[in-house]
Amino acid sequence: MFNIVMIGFMGTGKTVVGRRLAALLKKRFIDTDTEIERITEKTIVQIFAQDGAVRFRSEESLLVKKLEDQDNLVISTGGGIVLNPENVVSLKKNGILIALNAPPEVIYQRVRHKRSRPLLNKGDALIKIKELFAEREYAYDVAEYRVETGDKQVDEVVQEIILYLK
Ligand code: S3P
Repeated sequence: MFNIVMIGFMGTGKTVVGRRLAALLKKRFIDTDTEIERITEKTIVQIFAQDGAVRFRSEESLLVKKLEDQDNLVISTGGGIVLNPENVVSLKKNGILIALNAPPEVIYQRVRHKRSRPLLNKGDALIKIKELFAEREYAYDVAEYRVETGDKQVDEVVQEIILYLK
């Protein structure tokens, strides 16, 4: 059975939607950020601060390679994973890519009180979100299907994905 891979910008709902989707479809759920924290025994914030973004990206790529031969998973990915085209090739081997999207203002409201996004911790978070969003929007077009989550409840997003998969 194929994997379902959630991609998209930070705060678009990949983890919460992915987890619920996995429970409904009886697939195993993997969140790449959580998995990297488990493997490295560090938080994402610690990896960025102590080892740098390059180390984090290399952990992401190692993990994606490892997941290449696994199936029946729902994989929620970090917002930067698809910036590396090799990761996209690996994720597409066994997986259907679903992109979640939301307007920058909604993303800001969702992530503003969380300290777990090192890329947004410096300066004005809304400006940073808009800049990063503009830079990266193209990368999420690799998905087979895209869902707008800004004005939807989690269950609506999940149902929309299930309908698409039928
Ligand atoms: C990142 C997104 C984060 C996490 C890391 C880098 C990014 O994951 O992987 O902070 O580059 O967009 P979420 O998309 O789950 O927030």
